[in-house]
Order: sequence, then structure tokens, then C-alpha cells
Amino acid sequence: MEKLLIEGGTKLKGKVKISGFKNAALPIIAATLLAGDKCTIENLPLIKDVIVYKEIMSKLGADVSLNNKGVMEIDTSKIKKCNAPYELATKIRASYYLLGAALGRFSQAQAPPPGGCSIGNRPIDQHIKGFEALGAKVDISHGIINCTAEKLKGEKIYLDVVTVGATINIMLASVLTEGKTVIENAAKEPHIVDVANFLNAMGAEIRGAGTDVIRVQGVNKLKGCTYSIIPDQIEAGTYMIATAATGGEVIIDNVIPTHLEAITAKLKEMNVEVKEYGDSIKVYAPQKIKSVDVKTLPYPGFPTDLQQPMSVLLCHADGTSIVTETVSEDRFKYVDELKRMGARIKVDGRVAVIQGINKLSAAKVAASDLRGGVAMVIAGLVADGVTEVENAYHIDRGYERLENKLLSLGAKIKRIKI
Ligand code: EPZ
Repeated sequence: MEKLLIEGGTKLKGKVKISGFKNAALPIIAATLLAGDKCTIENLPLIKDVIVYKEIMSKLGADVSLNNKGVMEIDTSKIKKCNAPYELATKIRASYYLLGAALGRFSQAQAPPPGGCSIGNRPIDQHIKGFEALGAKVDISHGIINCTAEKLKGEKIYLDVVTVGATINIMLASVLTEGKTVIENAAKEPHIVDVANFLNAMGAEIRGAGTDVIRVQGVNKLKGCTYSIIPDQIEAGTYMIATAATGGEVIIDNVIPTHLEAITAKLKEMNVEVKEYGDSIKVYAPQKIKSVDVKTLPYPGFPTDLQQPMSVLLCHADGTSIVTETVSEDRFKYVDELKRMGARIKVDGRVAVIQGINKLSAAKVAASDLRGGVAMVIAGLVADGVTEVENAYHIDRGYERLENKLLSLGAKIKRIKI
């Protein structure tokens, strides 16, 4: 096991480059299954979840390599069926994209229920609703989700919940399915557009990704392509919040500012200066942070994945803030850890009331999940003394070289094995 030690009190200063987006990278790696050909994927983040996905694809029979520049060469032509390896697939949430991709290519798919962050009950009923609407039979027995189909046929599918996972999974299952599939009440996140762009680069016919109605015209075959993953707007938002929390001044490179509009608007409301320069954004926090209310919503609303880092920033705001988590059912586990650092937060169901204080005090805390873990690191950057964040593996799932990037901005952080 490893933990991160952070000595608080340094203002972050300098420049940091954002990596490729985890939540686009993982479904795109799964989607290479649909081509049965060679693909080159560039700008992959070198994070644990990508490594796990590479291992899953290799176990399924793909020839796959990943270099230290984040370029993956993958050939899925030898794969004839998909029985996802249990140990690996249960480590991550995104393993469920194998179901849609394999169903689309082989009319067969087996995978265990997905793993991933413990942030509430994360059902997959809408994924299953979509697969069954296309003509698949889905059953869950002996802890395995088993999908089979005689012949899939395009269909109109209305999602009862705006869900990123189900929107992407139904797209994956429908691109090689005869006829037209329409996904209504679809999620609109930028990574859904990225997956659709990748599929279209392989020869799919998808229109409307990024809106709440996505239309897929099934095609007979897809071919390999070269594709580069969009920048990670959640990683970018994390560094924006960390800069504001430390009262620093940082230029965040390799971003798409339109993907950051909700976080930019919220930070400006809090008296943080945010300036956009093409594919860079500059954050500067010269004065006391103003308290604000935050409600997480599907894109383009404030992203649930930045709720935990934002709550740490609000602990240092002047006044009381209310944070409402409408997307994930149980995403305040980190609050108990923050309270050990002196935070004044009251949680009632999906609402947290945060009373701003002058400064948190360093303590021994533990990461409960990916974004809760990075929230504790941000707390450590500001707290008086040396904070120890245990279970660093949670953070490594989604942040590439976190301590190197923070060290380059002047943070006092190091990793130790325990
Ligand atoms: C993706 O999870 C992300 N993970 C999550 O990021 C992110 O928090 C989430 O989207 C929302 O943006 C990956 O992309 C790997 P959902 P996912 O399907 O696909 C309900 C991170 O930190 N729901 O949009 O699981 C359920 O209540 C991770 O990078 C159903 O009811 O999210 C769920 O909480 C954490 N039935 C909510 O929708 C379903 O069939 C959002 O789910 C599916 C979802």
C-alpha cells in the first residue's frame, strides 16, 4: 500500500499540462473491439484504469501495446468472443462497455457486474433496457452478466435516467446493428461526443452526440483508425480548484474551455480570476474565496466528479455554502475524513452545508474513492502541517503522475510505501 504526504501552505504557481480523459479513453479502448482491425489510440492517460483495460483486452485475445507517451496500438481481429476476465473487470466501472461492444460485434457478451468508485448504488438497468430493446437476451447468473442475441435490430430507446454509461453502451451495441437506433433523453457529456467521433472515424454513422437525441444508422463493417483522446476536463477542473484553494496562480495547458464552463462560472462567482487563452486557462486567486451554492447535474451542469474537490474549496470560503449532489447517491463519504481536519460540514442525504473556516489542520486521512481521494490531497495542500492520505491507489486510477504535476507547481508532496 502507498500513501501521500502533503505539507500545506504553498501557493501553487506555474504551468501544468492536462492528460487525456479517463472517461473517454476507457469506452474508446472497449470500442476497438467493434473494428476487428488495428487501431492506434493517442493521448491516453497513463493511469491504473487504462492499464487494467489494456490487460483485459489482451486477455480477450487482442494484440495490444501501450508506450510511455500514451499511444496504444491494438488489434482486435483475433478476438472471436467476449468473456471478460472476472478479476480485472471487477476492478473498474468501465468494464461494462465490453458488453455493448461485444454484443455489437459478436451478438454475445459476458462480463461481471462492474466495480469502480463506491459512490452509491450504481445500477445498470438502463444499459440492460437498451440491450433488450435491440433484441438481446440479458440474464445475470453466478455473478456474471450474460448477453446473447439471435439478431439485433435498430430501435427507438428512451432512457428513464440521463446516464453517461448507458448512452455510450447503447451506441456501442447499435453501430453494427441493422436499421436505425434512436437514443432519447441521452446524456450530453463531451466524452460521449468523443466516443461517437471515434466510432464515426471507424466508419459508423452516428448523429446528434452531445444532444439528448442520438441517431445511429447501423453499418455492416467498421475499420481500424488512428484517434486522439480529448483532454480530461475533470483533471483540469481539479487543478483549477487546487489553485484557487492555495491562493495560487497557474496556467492549465491542453484544455477545451467550453468543456469547463460550469466550473469556470462557479469559480468566478467565488471571486476567483479565470482567463481563457485558446487551449489554456489561467486561474488566479488573489483574494478570499466567496461562499456559493453548488448543485451537481448532468453536463452541461456542474459535474458530480468535481463535487468533492469543490467542497474542500468551500471549506475555505467566507460564509456558508450548500452543496447538493443530484447525480450520485452517496458521494459524501469523504466528509468524515475532512471533519478530522476541522471542517465544519453537515450532511443530510444529498445535501451538505459547509461553513467556511480559516484553515483546515493536517491529519491522517484516507481516500474513499478516486475524487474523494484527490479532494483530501487538495485539503492537505492548504492545511497547517503534514497531511497523510492513505489508500493512494484510489487516486492513481484517474490522475496521471499527480505528485509530479503538483511538485512542478511548487507543492510539497511525496509518496511513501507502507
Ligand atoms: C460515469 O459513471 C463516470 N465513470 C463517473 O465518473 C461519473 O461520475 C458519471 O459517469 C456521471 O458523470 C466513467 O465514465 C467510467 P451514469 P456512470 O451512468 O457511467 C443512475 C469518476 O470519478 N443510473 O451517468 O456509472 C445512477 O443513479 C467516475 O471518473 C441508473 O439509475 O454514470 C447513477 O448514479 C465516478 N441506471 C447515475 O445514473 C443506469 O442504468 C449516473 O450514472 C445507469 C445509471
